[in-house]
Amino acid sequence: LGEGPLKGRHVVVTSGPTHEPIDPVRYIANRSSGAQGTAIAAALRDLGARVTFVTGPASVPAPGGVAVQRVETARDMLAAVEAVLPADIAVFAAAVADWRVSNAAGSKMKKDGSGRAPALEFAENPDILATVSRMTQGRPALVVGFAAETDDVIAHATAKRARKGCDWIVANDVSPATGIMGGGENAVTLITAAGAEEWPRLPKDEVARRLALRIAETLGTSG
Ligand code: C5P
Repeated sequence: LGEGPLKGRHVVVTSGPTHEPIDPVRYIANRSSGAQGTAIAAALRDLGARVTFVTGPASVPAPGGVAVQRVETARDMLAAVEAVLPADIAVFAAAVADWRVSNAAGSKMKKDGSGRAPALEFAENPDILATVSRMTQGRPALVVGFAAETDDVIAHATAKRARKGCDWIVANDVSPATGIMGGGENAVTLITAAGAEEWPRLPKDEVARRLALRIAETLGTSG
């Protein structure tokens, strides 16, 4: 551990879904397994980086040899990320819930016999990627976000890169025909300031390895 081209670099990686409570026993979640974020954290570790892994309740185990911070909600995830900065590199692979329940109950919601269903109200969650990308002090030198798209992948991901203010977007086509969501392989397009690069369809571990090498190469040349 600690040897390789990323030796001495601190990387923060977010991964997994978030859980947004409805009441103390119920929550809203999504189907993210955390597989791609976990593979990226392991690949960065293997290149010698010190990795802080901020993870929601994922279905795959966290990698060894990294500092793990477990969180539930999007707001917890943002607070955990802010607490572990500064970092040289941030890779935000988590599938963060866009909304939280703003009228979550403090005790378990019960049927009241009236036949009326409760009405959930929602508030927008903070955007961790955009928040960190737009930091004016102590911004990581390289901020990488993800974009899961079902159509016009390059156009949508390029627009997302500009909107969020991050350096790179790793875009993938998650339309059902690709079998990527929940599968072991990924076909990504890397969007940088220089444009779009389509990578071949590869196992998620190999996508992670290539991304980590690319990060090491970029930081190596830019200082
Ligand atoms: O806007 P969208 O959710 O498609 O953007 C995806 C990217 O933004 C991912 O890198 C994800 O981790 C990040 N994100 C975030 N905080 C949010 C929503 C998305 O960091 N609240």
